[in-house]
Amino acid sequence: MTEHDIVDRLSFLEKKVLMALRGLQRPTPEEVLAESGLNQLVEVMNAASWLQAKGLITIDEKVTRKYSLKNSENARKELPEKTVIRTILAEFDGKATTSQLKASDSLRPSELQIALGWIRKKGWGELSKDGGDTIVTVTQKGRDALDVDGDDERLIKQLIEDVLTEDEVDKDAIGQLKQRKDFLSEKLVTERRISLTETGSKIAALDIDIKEEVGQMTPELIASGGWRDVDIRRYDVKAFAPTVYGGRKHPITLLIEKIRNTFLNMGFTEITGDYFESAFWNMDVLFTAQDHPARELQDTFYLSNPDRVDLSKDAELVDVVRQVHENGWKTGSSGWRYPWSLEEAQRTLLRTHTTVNTIRRIAQDPKLPFKVFSIGRVFRNEAMDSTHLPEFLQIEGIVCEDTANFDMLCTLLKEFYKRMGIPKIRIRPSYYPYTEPSLDVEIFFNGQWMELGGAGIFRPEVTEPLGVHEPVLAWGFGLERLAMLVWGLNDIRDIYISDIDWLKKMPQI
Ligand code: PHE
Repeated sequence: MTEHDIVDRLSFLEKKVLMALRGLQRPTPEEVLAESGLNQLVEVMNAASWLQAKGLITIDEKVTRKYSLKNSENARKELPEKTVIRTILAEFDGKATTSQLKASDSLRPSELQIALGWIRKKGWGELSKDGGDTIVTVTQKGRDALDVDGDDERLIKQLIEDVLTEDEVDKDAIGQLKQRKDFLSEKLVTERRISLTETGSKIAALDIDIKEEVGQMTPELIASGGWRDVDIRRYDVKAFAPTVYGGRKHPITLLIEKIRNTFLNMGFTEITGDYFESAFWNMDVLFTAQDHPARELQDTFYLSNPDRVDLSKDAELVDVVRQVHENGWKTGSSGWRYPWSLEEAQRTLLRTHTTVNTIRRIAQDPKLPFKVFSIGRVFRNEAMDSTHLPEFLQIEGIVCEDTANFDMLCTLLKEFYKRMGIPKIRIRPSYYPYTEPSLDVEIFFNGQWMELGGAGIFRPEVTEPLGVHEPVLAWGFGLERLAMLVWGLNDIRDIYISDIDWLKKMPQI
């Protein structure tokens, strides 16, 4: 930048301050204020910090500790230990008990305890116990002390006159005064001195034209021609400004919206369901045997109030499902071959997966073709760790059409993840009681394979009782695990810690 450019970028206030610095040697901001003809110290400080940022001046700061008296009236009084010594010598011949001293008119009883402490510390008297009383015997040092000022007293006298810096005071004496309650006040004072840098001196030496500066062009300025005589303030697009964070949606909400739009764009319709479910719909309809481990208490949150639901309005389906479990009914399967319990199916729970939403949707209206998805919360009685939450969101969906097949399922899953910004997923064989074939979607993350969710084609044991004879493609994925990938999080719990800085800095997607 040429000197001309530098001058060109100086504001009115900066020019004023620079000019004032011409004739001053390392001035304080107050001195600059007086010399510049500006009105307020903040104007000087503001301009000075910009000039410093531009490399034209330096501001040296020195922090000094300053001492003064909290109450100089109080400080003029004699120190209490001196009054006590004086009293003992005058009234008690050099030796007195505390009860005698308390009775004496010359002493403030509240200060007696403090005075005794200092007498002992300063060696002005010897203290001995006499029952509940203390006897004070004045020493020679105590007698001598009466005629002279101690270091602390001298310091007090100085402080009555002046505020003193740490360099001007006796360290031990200050230490003593600090021990007295409400006596001393201690302040840190920053002294600033401004000086021109080499470039600053060159610029200040130039003949700078200082015009009034306007931040905004007005009709009056244009009409009057006054714009010719003013400087128009430049915009500095590189100037530092604090980032302003506005209100915003939670990143999870934004991600849900993105997932929703992705499925809508792929031709799906959204469905919802309740958190509260029966074991029948959550498990039995999905051909999950009643002794399946996922149905145990340590995996499922069962409810106690109400602890049962009436399934009589689904009586027909209940009967078919019973037969499917017991002997396969007309599905061609031999079923699980155990006596099915209605009681077990009537138990109430918090849904453990949103597959219950899609299965209910089929039961409601099994007319093909249709494609639906749901995004909802599910609950599992699981220990929390870096990849597990007891309460999390699932992305669920089904495709019901007669040409649906396994290949289509794999393509669909890859397409979905691609649209979410994850180009490569691993599909591998898996097992679910309600699908055949079954698969898991995994992704290599943080040095290991992480499961994102499961999918498959519903078994006839699931679809036949609902009157569907075509293949149904189904899947259910963890939403928070997807979020971990999208945001690069190592710990799933971070999503809900709601660290305000993290929330502010998350991209708006
Ligand atoms: N419900 C399974 C789960 O909770 C996912 C799944 C859905 C698997 C649909 C197959 C078919 O993990």
